[in-house]
Amino acid sequence: MTKDHSTLFDHPDGYGLVSRTLHWLMAALFAWQFTSAILHAVDRDMPVARFFWSWHFSVGFLLFLAIFLRGAWALINLRNRPVYAAGLLGTAARIGHLVLYLLMLAVPTLAVLRAYGSGRGLEVFGIEVFAGGGERIPALMAPANMLHGLFGWTLLLLILGHTAMALTHTYVWREGTLTRMLRGRPSPVGEID
Ligand code: HEM
Repeated sequence: MTKDHSTLFDHPDGYGLVSRTLHWLMAALFAWQFTSAILHAVDRDMPVARFFWSWHFSVGFLLFLAIFLRGAWALINLRNRPVYAAGLLGTAARIGHLVLYLLMLAVPTLAVLRAYGSGRGLEVFGIEVFAGGGERIPALMAPANMLHGLFGWTLLLLILGHTAMALTHTYVWREGTLTRMLRGRPSPVGEID
């Protein structure tokens, strides 16, 4: 049976254009975001660290908006997506993806709440999200003070694990997993790109 692989929506053989665009756009933004976090942790006074950190709030806020779109689109497509394999590996992938989504939501949300609670306002890419001069609300700042960095590093580890597993499925077990997210369909066995 011939299948139409040029759909916007996901289907059991792969991901549609919207899911693929959101996935790779967020991957690029996360690469930038973690570069800023790593350089900041190593030496925040280095010029290159200052440059990347100057974008941390703005890129982080973009990721905050993107995860709502991504989550909503995943829910709309829940029944059309490629299914998980049976067994332990499939269950681990399902749980891993769920935790990835939860952390992608929690990490920026905590930071935005802290920015609001700080009363100093938030500006992203030169646009004011909320004004400064407000009251300081310690209860909104405490969760991020405790968890934003910790959850952020945990998210980085999970993303590295997710990448390693996608590469293992594709290049070691030759399952064409990556092409479902690259081209929207699995490649025939042996044809991997
Ligand atoms: C998904 C998006 C985000 C990720 C993955 C992320 C990741 C991180 C990480 C790993 C750190 C620790 C850096 C260190 O130890 O030096 C950090 C720190 C920080 N981030 Fe983010 N961040 C995100 C979004 C945001 C947003 C939206 C804001 C502001 C509105 C923000 C504000 C801060 C601040 C002020 C710090 C330093 C204090 C702290 O470690 O809690 N981040 N971020």
